[in-house]
Amino acid sequence: MVAHDALLQDARRAIRGVVSFEALEKARVEFLGRNGRIAGAMKKIGGLGEAQRRAAGVALNAVKTSIEKAFETKQKELIASQNAQLAKDEAVDVTQPGLRPAGQPATRIGHFHPITHVMRDLERVFTSMGFIVLDGPELESDYYNFEALNIPPDHPARDIQDTFYVSPSAKGGSASGGDWVMRTHTSPVQIRAMQRYGAPLRAVALGRVFRHEATDASHEHTFHQIEGLVVGEGISLAHLKGTLLVMLKEILGSQVQIRLRPSYFPFVEPGVEIDVSCTICGGVGCRACKQNGWMELLGAGMVHPRVLEAGGVDAKRYTGFAFGTGIERLTMLRYGIEDIRHFHESELRFIEQF
Ligand code: DAH
Repeated sequence: MVAHDALLQDARRAIRGVVSFEALEKARVEFLGRNGRIAGAMKKIGGLGEAQRRAAGVALNAVKTSIEKAFETKQKELIASQNAQLAKDEAVDVTQPGLRPAGQPATRIGHFHPITHVMRDLERVFTSMGFIVLDGPELESDYYNFEALNIPPDHPARDIQDTFYVSPSAKGGSASGGDWVMRTHTSPVQIRAMQRYGAPLRAVALGRVFRHEATDASHEHTFHQIEGLVVGEGISLAHLKGTLLVMLKEILGSQVQIRLRPSYFPFVEPGVEIDVSCTICGGVGCRACKQNGWMELLGAGMVHPRVLEAGGVDAKRYTGFAFGTGIERLTMLRYGIEDIRHFHESELRFIEQF
């Protein structure tokens, strides 16, 4: 009996000193293994007399159970401490900033150009109103850029825009009359859109346009426009006004007001020019708006029947409105930028403000 108690004490002491799964296994073999100390004690009992053997067997079994329990408990402890260690060693701090590529200074983090910001906002506003967003070629045929838009070859409207003509011959561009031009506006996408998708249709096209003109604070040879076109049954000037008000409030702020003035563009009838209340003074009158409270912003109108027909749309059944404006101009009004040339200068002190 006393021997069995000593066995239990030995086992407990051995288990207490264990710090690894290997050591635990070794101790298990020592005490509980086939040739271990419990098994040895069992054999010895075999040599006792009947009554003694029974009592000793019961006692030894109790000791064996206690030892097994002690091993189990130790095993659980080891697993728990292993997991705790793992959680500590392999923890990842997901809030840590990423590693900077070697050699890249801390302040040079890329971001969108202000023009890109405004283009993305415009696309978001118009797609939310069910418009599709289209592209068109920057090198455009004379037909799409002028003729299909009701601007025939001898029409004085061709003087409105100074055009980069691109001659297909190797002799260089002629002054006029080439078959190809760098598109002077995004309006040719109107024709392409109608030819491709037919009516009814809601589309915007954003992209670069080119003008052969001297550069100053408000003129660039290369800039961006957004063109809009809606064709459907019963489309009216009221739809045009509502749509543009939504767009301008989104881009320039909810305080903005608009007004429509009669104007002329060959591809619309009637044509209108749309002014916004001055974004600097709010309409009171200041230097930016030359004291009149309004700023010219957009050309628009009801699509001319000849233009609908060039697009393959039945002008007796459908009407449409169209508009076009410069994205640089919108961006300048939005951010209070005073010179259009900033956009192309790649001056980081300018770019980094947006
Ligand atoms: N294409 C014209 C321009 O570049 C702008 C314009 C005016 C577009 C009237 C339109 C419109 O769609 O209806 O100056």
